[in-house]
Amino acid sequence: MPHLTEDNLERARSLVALYPDKRSALIPILHLVQEQDGYVSPEGIHDAAELLGLTPAEVRGTASFYDMFHLEPVGKYVVAVCTNIACMLAGAYELLEHIEESLGTHPGGTTDDGAFTLEDAECLALCGNAPCVTVNWRYFGDMTPERWDSLAEDLRAGRLEGEVPPHGTLCRVRRSVGLVASGGAGAPASPVTAIDVTTSRTTPAAQSTVLPEGGGGS
Ligand code: FES
Repeated sequence: MPHLTEDNLERARSLVALYPDKRSALIPILHLVQEQDGYVSPEGIHDAAELLGLTPAEVRGTASFYDMFHLEPVGKYVVAVCTNIACMLAGAYELLEHIEESLGTHPGGTTDDGAFTLEDAECLALCGNAPCVTVNWRYFGDMTPERWDSLAEDLRAGRLEGEVPPHGTLCRVRRSVGLVASGGAGAPASPVTAIDVTTSRTTPAAQSTVLPEGGGGS
């Protein structure tokens, strides 16, 4: 019995149908698994392998190559702090130190209550608003220790659920036109789900820059 929900299984089959070689759908299907489970679960790896005609080891091997995929459960919020050059010059290491102290964990760690997983990231493509962090891939620029405290408080209180979706969610707005499967490797040709990244908001709580969902190019 598949681990993916019926709806996600249908989405996965539609993704497979987009490609002449079904293994090419591996990355989008890994995102689908991560969106459902919050990380790339062993059960999701098994489903992906079945769908794509790969071995679980091949699926896991690809997933483990990319930082964006988590092979172990993570906190409700994955916080990535950029420490690359522009952010470093704008105080990223001091910011990271503050966040480590405030959360009581270090990059790679998860808080005891499971609320936050902290990461030290390379350039997140928001250099103009350095230093920046992402939370579940949503941007918060011009970050300061004080703004982080406010942001963390809002996240813990659930006040930003409209801005920051569960970990693994690439986008919450989908459209059913655009990409069309024809002669693909899997399901019969039909219009399929495509990604719409249209929303842009400012987060009053943190007074930070929030870019369109899906990020700014990373
Ligand atoms: S250096 Fe931090 S976003 Fe580019």
